[in-house]
Amino acid sequence: MGETMIDVRHLPKEDAYATVDQHLRLVLEGISDPVATMATLSCLLFHGFGHLWVGFYRVVEPGRLLRVGPYQGTLGCLEIEVGRGVCGTAAATKRTVIVPDVDLFPGHIACDARARSEIVVPVVDANGNLAAVLDVDSEHVAAFDHDDALGLERLVRIFAGTERGVSSTIAHE
Ligand code: SME
Repeated sequence: MGETMIDVRHLPKEDAYATVDQHLRLVLEGISDPVATMATLSCLLFHGFGHLWVGFYRVVEPGRLLRVGPYQGTLGCLEIEVGRGVCGTAAATKRTVIVPDVDLFPGHIACDARARSEIVVPVVDANGNLAAVLDVDSEHVAAFDHDDALGLERLVRIFAGTERGVSSTIAHE
């Protein structure tokens, strides 16, 4: 599968996310397994954009606890309480959270000391229930903006079964 890896760093963000979207659909054709999808999307985003860490925290106790899922990068913390850190905040509010500077986000959980900015996108299922959050970390300050939020929100809808009719849920910190 090495030949299918993509590098989207040279593209404008809208095109970059469209390219990831195309490859995700291509690689996953005929497979709707959520673990395979989370792993494949993590891989495409990590290598495609060259991010520091990309992965999922899954809801294991609704309203209380997230546990790490498929990811790429250095060791992620295993569990995060809903309401704690950036992931827990996105989970509690079911809104995308953009953190331009992690040092300025009270309660930020530092899994990798190199992380400087972060975006966390909720994965909401067709019934409106939170299934997981997608966490993307960068070594660069202010790496993420509105275009990343829109691009990532679209990507997670592919496997959340909510591709149509979901409005943006962006909150900027
Ligand atoms: N920084 C996250 C924790 C997860 S790690 O970065 C992989 C947070 O504050 O929720």
